Formats: sequence, C-alpha cells, structure tokens
Amino acid sequence: MKDKTHILLSLIFFSFLFNVFDISNGNYIPKNSILLNCGSSEDGVDADGRKWVGDSSSKFLLSSDKSVAAQAEFQDPSLPSQFPYMSARIFKSESSYSFPVSAGKRHWIRLHFYPSSYGGLNATDAYFSVKSDGFMFLRNFSASITAQALTQAYIVREFSLNPSSNILNVTFTPSDKHHASYAFINGIEVISMPDVYDSPATLVGFSDQTVDIGSSTVQTLYRLNVGGQYVPAGNDSGLSRTWYDDSPYLYGAAFGVTFSVSDNVKIRYPTTVAEYMAPLDIYSTARSMGPDSKINMNYNLTWVFQVDANFTYVVRFHFCELQLTKVNQRVFDIYLNNQTAQESADVIAWSGSKAVPVYKDYAVYVSDGPGDDEQLWLALHPSAAAKPEYYDSILNGLEIFKLNDTTGNLAGPNPVPSPMLLEAESNEPNTLSKSKDKAHVIGGAAGGAAAVGLVFAICFAAYQRQKKVLGSESGVSGWLPIYGNSQTTVSKSTISGKSCASSHLSSLAVSLCRHFSFAEIKQGTKNFDESLVIGVGGFGKVYKGVIDGGTNVAIKRSNPSSEQGVNEFQTEIEMLSKLRHRHLVSLIGYCEENNEMILVYDYMAHGTVREHLYKSNKPPLSWKQRLEICIGAARGLHYLHTGAKYTIIHRDVKTTNILVDEKLVAKVSDFGLSKTGPNLNQTHVSTVVKGSFGYLDPEYFRRQQLTEKSDVYSFGVVLFEVLCARPALNPSLPKEQVSLADWALHCQRKGILEDIVDPNLKGKINPECLKKFADTAEKCLSDQGVDRPAMGDVLWNLEFALQLQENSNGGKPIVSEAINDSEAIANDSSLGGQNSDISIGCESEVLVSEDSYLNTSAVFSQLINPKGR
Ligand SMILES: *[C@@H]1O[C@H](CO)[C@@H](O)[C@H](O)[C@H]1NC(C)=O
Ligand SMILES: *[C@@H]1O[C@H](CO)[C@@H](O)[C@H](O)[C@H]1NC(C)=O
Ligand SMILES: *[C@@H]1O[C@H](CO)[C@@H](O)[C@H](O)[C@H]1NC(C)=O
Repeated sequence: MKDKTHILLSLIFFSFLFNVFDISNGNYIPKNSILLNCGSSEDGVDADGRKWVGDSSSKFLLSSDKSVAAQAEFQDPSLPSQFPYMSARIFKSESSYSFPVSAGKRHWIRLHFYPSSYGGLNATDAYFSVKSDGFMFLRNFSASITAQALTQAYIVREFSLNPSSNILNVTFTPSDKHHASYAFINGIEVISMPDVYDSPATLVGFSDQTVDIGSSTVQTLYRLNVGGQYVPAGNDSGLSRTWYDDSPYLYGAAFGVTFSVSDNVKIRYPTTVAEYMAPLDIYSTARSMGPDSKINMNYNLTWVFQVDANFTYVVRFHFCELQLTKVNQRVFDIYLNNQTAQESADVIAWSGSKAVPVYKDYAVYVSDGPGDDEQLWLALHPSAAAKPEYYDSILNGLEIFKLNDTTGNLAGPNPVPSPMLLEAESNEPNTLSKSKDKAHVIGGAAGGAAAVGLVFAICFAAYQRQKKVLGSESGVSGWLPIYGNSQTTVSKSTISGKSCASSHLSSLAVSLCRHFSFAEIKQGTKNFDESLVIGVGGFGKVYKGVIDGGTNVAIKRSNPSSEQGVNEFQTEIEMLSKLRHRHLVSLIGYCEENNEMILVYDYMAHGTVREHLYKSNKPPLSWKQRLEICIGAARGLHYLHTGAKYTIIHRDVKTTNILVDEKLVAKVSDFGLSKTGPNLNQTHVSTVVKGSFGYLDPEYFRRQQLTEKSDVYSFGVVLFEVLCARPALNPSLPKEQVSLADWALHCQRKGILEDIVDPNLKGKINPECLKKFADTAEKCLSDQGVDRPAMGDVLWNLEFALQLQENSNGGKPIVSEAINDSEAIANDSSLGGQNSDISIGCESEVLVSEDSYLNTSAVFSQLINPKGR
C-alpha cells in the first residue's frame, strides 16, 4: 500500500515535471504557448513558421469594448512577416489581457510593436505603460521614438517572469502626460520556459557577493551569436529566442577574428549545461582576438551596449573552446565597465574539454554617475599574469539581462533619436504618408537585422575614453586633433589656451573641438581673399587657409545672409565634433564671434576623386590606387553607418564628395552639412535631385524611404565610375548609355564589362580582382535595398579584391586554406607567434600606434574565415 502510494505520487510528480519541462530530442516543448495576433480575428503563420492566433475571438482580452482593432496602413519592407505586425489593438483607456499560466514557473512575455498609422491615429501620439504581475515593463513608452532611434521598423521587448498566480494580466495604460495619447500592441507571446536563471551571478567588484536572478523579473536587452550569424526564433531549440550578430556592437574596428567549429568535431553538452541554455549554433562559432600575441596584448576585444542607468544587469557569457585542448593555452581577463569581472578565464579549465559548452554570469550595477554614460562596456584581454601559451581570448555568445529594481520597475526613458535623423526626416520631400508614420522613413534601415536594440553606442563614449587617455598621457584635457594630417603640426601650447567654452555648446563638443578667434581666421585667409576661395556652397564660401603658421585647412564661412541659424551651426559642431575617423574629413574647429559662423576642416590637398578620373589633366590613377581610395571611402561610410553613436546616412555619396589628401588617402566629406542645414528644404533637396541624379537609389526615389542602403546604392555607382572613368550621367551618349548604373549593369550581365573599363587600365587589372570588384558593385546596385550588401560587406569584398590584385602581382597568397580549419589553427605556431602581417583592423578609436596597424594588411583578420562576416 505504502509502495503503491509512493509510485502513484512519483507518477504524478513525474507527469507534472514532464508537463512543465518537456524535452524531446534536445528541443524544449513549452507547456503553455500563446502567440496572440492583436487587433485581428485572423490566424496566421510568421516567417519562422510560428502560428499566431487572432485576439478578437480569443478569451484573453478583457473588456474588448474598451479597445478597437485596426490595420496598419503601410507595410514596411523590413517587417519579417505580416503576422503579427499588420494589425494592432488600440486602447484609449487602461485595458488588460489575461492569460492562464502556471504560477511560479517562468514564462517569456514578448511584446511586439510596429509603430505605424492605424485608423488615422498618429503613431507619434502613442505614449503608454505596460504592467504585469506588479512589474512595470514599460513606462511612458513611445514605440515611434524608440523605433526611430534604433532605425528599426518594429520593436520586440522580451521579459521573463515567475507569475505569482495562475492568471497573468498584462495591462496597457495610455500616458496621461501626453495629449491624445493612446496605447497599442501588435503581438503578445506568453510562453512557459525552463528556468535558465537558476544560478546566482557574481557581482562584479564584490568577489564575495552574488545576485540571485531567479527572484527577479528580467528583460532581455541583447542576445548575440558572437562571431556568427543571426539565429531566427524558429531555430532555437524550442525556446523561440532570436540571436543576433554581435559585430554592430564591437567597439571601433577591432573586430578580432571569427571562426567556427570544424566539421569533424561534435559539440557535447555537459550535464551542467542544458541544451536549451543556448543552441548549437551559438557554441559552434566564436570570435577571438587574432593570431598575433603582440597585437593582442595591445588591445581589448571590446563591445559597447546602450543601457539605462540605475539598474542591475546580468551579463551571460557563453563559451566553447573550438580550437585548443589544454588548460592554460588561452587565458584572458574579462572586464565589465572598467572593473575586472573575471581574472584568468580559461574555457578549457571550466569545461574540461574542447567543444564542451560552459556559461558564466556576472552582475553589474550601472549607476547614473558622470563616468558611466549609460553604457555597458565589455572587454576581453589576454591574461599576461597566467603566462598562457597563446595571448588571446574567445567568446561564443552573449546575453544581457536587465533586472527589475527594488520598486519592481524595469522601464527606462525613451531613447533620444539622432538630431540628424530627425532633421533628415522632417525634410523629406513629399513624404508619402506625410509623417503620420514616422517610422516609415527611417524604418527600413536596420529593421529585421537587430530587433532587440541596435547600433546606438560607441562614438560618444569613445571620445569620453579618449579624453581620459589623452588627458592622462599628455597632460592636456583640451582638444587634440586625433586623426587627420594636422596632427603633427598643432603644438601643445596652442591647444590648452584656446578651448574657451561657448555658452551654447555642450562641454563635450567644446572639449573635442577647437575654438578659433576671428582674428586668427582673418589672418589665415588673408582677410578672406577671393583668390583663396576653393568652393562655394549653399551657405557660403570655402577658403583655403593656414593656421598655426603652416597647417593648411579649409575654412567655411557662413554667408551672413544665409539662412543657417545659430542653432543649426551649433548642431553641426555638436555632431561633427564627435565624428572622427581617418576616412572622414574632420572638423578641426569653429569660430563664433562678431556674428560670424565659421567652420574649420581638414584641407584635402588632392581635391575630389572625380578630378582624378576624367575631365581633368591629372595623370590617371593606377588600379591599386583606385582600389585603395574605394576601400578608404567604404571605411568612412561603414563608420557613419555603424561606428558612430547614431546610424548616419550620408545621402549624397558621389565622387565629388570623396576627397583625397596629399597621400591619396580617401576621406568622405559633406556628411553633416547636407543634413543639418536649415536650407535643406530648398537647396539641398534640389541639389540632390540635380547634382546627384545618377547616384540616386531608385527605391528611395520610389518610396521616399531613407536607409543606409541608399548610400550603398550610390557607392555602387561610385565603384563603376572609378572603374570606367566616366560620369554617372552623360547625356551626350546614346540613350542606353546615359546612366552609368544602367549601362554598367547591362554590360556586367552580358559579360562585356571589360569593354567599358577605363582604357588606362586595360590589361592592368587581374581578372579575378575585376570580377570581385564588379560583382560587388553590381550587388550594391540591386534594385531592392534588402538585396544590397551592408557597407561592411562591401568593404570586405573590396579588400578581398585588393588582395587578389596584389597576389597576382607576384606576392604570395596571404591566406593559406589551412587557417580556416580550426583544427589546423590549434597546431599553428603563428597563433602565438610573431606574424606581424596581421592587423586587428583598428581604425578610428584605438589610440595605440594607429598607423602601424593601419598600414599592415587590414584584410587578414577577416580573410581567416570567409564565412564569418
Ligand atoms: C538614478 O538615480 C538617481 C538617484 O536616485 C537619480 O537622481 C537619477 O535621476 C536616476 N537616473 C535615472 C536615469 O533614472
Ligand atoms: C582593457 O580594458 C581594461 C578595463 O577597462 C583597461 O584597464 C585596460 O587598460 C584595457 N587595455 C587596453 C590595452 O586597452
Ligand atoms: C525584483 O523584484 C523582486 C520582487 O519584488 C525583489 O525581490 C528583487 O529583489 C528585485 N530585484 C532587484 C535586483 O532589486
């Protein structure tokens, strides 16, 4: 009898267990799984094959009389599928959904928002809060502002909580702080999950303290497949998590190298790591620093994430050694926000073996202090103390969770969109939907690529850091020209005295940007001598000038009658002072005196790229020079798109906006003026249409939708222009040849591109190189933005083309096939050896001996794994 009861009890117990944690074939099958397509009676399947049910007929919606169902008026092309985004439920007063759950068992709650115009409501009017089970998920939330700041069309917010009862209410409340405010939701997922938060996290800075995640409600902020590809919800071991590429969050251009597990190695989950902790895809790819110990010792592999202040974050590191087999071969330190989170991390020591996953959690509190800047910095550095065989580090996956605070809050403020994006948007000509749906304009930009939170970091903080570093090294806290050729000629004495604060500018801009007196400018331009005018722009003249007794600069003087107001002038200084890069023409300083508004830029001795291609008497550039110029310009644009705090879309990429300095280093120019100027409505738009026809993205033209892929299109035209040495538009040619984009594509597809290559280059281009270059240009010119490569891919392909060209000139191939094989690399002594032909691709932000890196082959790191990027 006793035995029977016992068996019965165990049976009940086990069936209970299996109901909640049903795992088959390594895939977790949730007991509860509700995917609600809000504002609709329709059921449908999304791009991942997941089934959504309409909420209208469902029992989940409480008091449906308080809400209306509505359809989005526009389908953004970056939406992954119609479901659940094209319908929304709108609430004008507080309303709830109510879901059956299992109390005390963790559930995901995912909220999907597509800020669009619904039934004539303005997307920008929606401000609301979302609460559940006593926790504040979102407060005064504007999906429209958030989408805009992240340059995404839609937003997904993922929370995980332990419901306190078997009924879970999710409540939407329109904000009373805003007039005409309403709440909306497109999709809700409520899904039971295994407890992935069962072990405490080490609190960074307090070796004896831990943070218990299990007792908190958490929000997933970032979930990355480091060194690998996007993993859609459908491929994630039943947990329907989405994993993104980590590269947008890498600091600067120090990408390290990526690799994946070799085919003959099988990853084995140990008993301590459940298969649902992270899918195989995560553990089978990784990023490490690179094969050169000396270089690795000189830098940190660093990621930067935008977060909200006053919260505790748990950072989960997923590791799996794919190359090495022994303890103390690869040992590194882990830093979080400048504090040591882990000394001497050794993946093999933790996991016991190669190809065995392990994960580690560290908690860090981000306060509101001046140094923190609402960012989370994560850095890996080889541990010199451990004297490992290889000075290197490795990471396979990363998750960042935000924990509720002591008041049960998880909400932060809405992000602040880039002033440039706002400006660009409000000046869109004839915007189709007349800004009822602001997200359209910006929407497509990054959309599907990163829904948890994108880009949005780096530059600002980079300069905060640089300031610190420079300050401590040189004893100067003022402005320093970090890049550009004036670097060597500015003496320290001129720096310290002159950064006089302007009352209107932020202290950051003032500290980054030098202030000039009007007398200095007058002297430098011989009292604005007409013979020194090198250009006339929308808002005034540009002079060639001299400062500091010998440094050439370009001086842009605002025409007093120009419409450019003080505010725009200041916006420009604020923006441009933070954008510095070897391949961007940089702002050196400004003068704001006697009602003058003057900007001082780097002077580019060799003028525009166009004047080196045709219609000039300059000697033709060699193919290698042209490739290097294209690579430089691509780097500059890549930085604008991904490296700065905000995604910046140039909008006017053309050969006259790519300048070359005395060493023929290409620099992108005019990336700020055109978008922040007030006269943009008149001058700029018409300039775009007149001056840059032939470069204009057809998709942008069709739908007035601005994305960075518009720059990629224009850059494709630039590539063909460089190859063929003819203008983008030449009306004197037969009709089918007028547009270079059309004609080159035609020839490329017919296989007769060689016929239109610049005669000066005939026979001088390696055929493989030409093929790579032309294929790249062709892809840039794809009709649809989504089919065009990202600027980073363009860059990679051009570098590859350069390698093909150089190898054909007698050099040995730099990359041996073996390196791609992770087995081989483990035995390759160069992993810790002296190979100095390696670069970490440092560009703008890494201060240590920038030039020595730049001049070595920046390609190598990326070539190691052609699949990686
Ligand atoms: C963080 O907390 C401090 C002290 O309570 C407060 O002054 C500050 O405004 C908070 N910051 C944010 C971003 O909420
Ligand atoms: C790496 O990061 C740590 C912590 O932020 C810092 O102390 C160290 O100086 C950095 N090392 C390099 C080479 O940048
Ligand atoms: C989150 O809320 C729970 C319940 O109110 C509380 O016990 C826990 O300490 C909170 N977490 C943090 C990190 O404050």
